[in-house]
Amino acid sequence: MSLKDKLDKNKIPQHIAIIMDGNGRWAKQRQHERTFGHENGVISVRETVEAAAEIGVKFLTLYAFSTENWNRPKDEVDALMSLLVKTINEETKTLNKNNIRLQAIGDLESLEKDTYNELQKAIENTATNSQMTLILALSYSSRWEICNAIQKIAKQIENKSITSNEINQDFISANLNTANYPDPELLIRTSGEYRISNFLLWQIAYAELFFTPVLWPDFRKENLYEAIFDFQNRERRFGKISEQLLNFKI
Ligand code: IPE
Ligand code: IPE
Ligand code: MG
Repeated sequence: MSLKDKLDKNKIPQHIAIIMDGNGRWAKQRQHERTFGHENGVISVRETVEAAAEIGVKFLTLYAFSTENWNRPKDEVDALMSLLVKTINEETKTLNKNNIRLQAIGDLESLEKDTYNELQKAIENTATNSQMTLILALSYSSRWEICNAIQKIAKQIENKSITSNEINQDFISANLNTANYPDPELLIRTSGEYRISNFLLWQIAYAELFFTPVLWPDFRKENLYEAIFDFQNRERRFGKISEQLLNFKI
């Protein structure tokens, strides 16, 4: 029996974020170049996107390329960027068929022109889809995003469109790249690494974290169900105590 049947359909997280890690190690285990791992990772992306949309997840954010990943060997960066363009090209049709809207967060202007143009084209072509929003984090890092937000806010103070006491949590959220999306309730990282690697630091303040040893190219629908099943069996207390959540009089 699939874990899918055990999921509580009323408790599906509306936003899941995934740090897709382990492509290089997966390839190495098979005596292949790292790029082979990235290519196979695309199959996992396809499966995960399909599974998430099917069960009613509304936002899925995938960490595809970090600001720090620019420091990898040029060959690998180039291969990742061509793979990205190729994948976006090939998958737009499927996104439309499944009613999925594509969005992107990160320093998109740092992408090569070709990559940037393909991405924008796919974003426009899928803009009216409404089943799920797929958000690619590209040339993204959370500290970059937060610096960017602070600059935007500082400019609004400079030109006197706001005063400093209007800065609150909602205002900061509204100046991040993720302004139009709710915070993720569940963050998954594959490949057995227990770190966040500069991903959505502000947004995951109360996310449930799920770490799996599965390398990203091996990640399949069942692995996503497993993470959601685990999530559904946790108690999210948000600082309160259990009894308050159960509505007991205390
Ligand atoms: C994740 O896999 C993909 C990207 C970061 C682009 P890695 O390439 O980091 O694979 P490992 O962690 O070296 O195995
Ligand atoms: C995080 O993976 C970035 C992405 C998945 C895109 P990394 O493999 O780059 O992270 P570190 O360097 O191991 O922390
Ligand atoms: Mg890695």
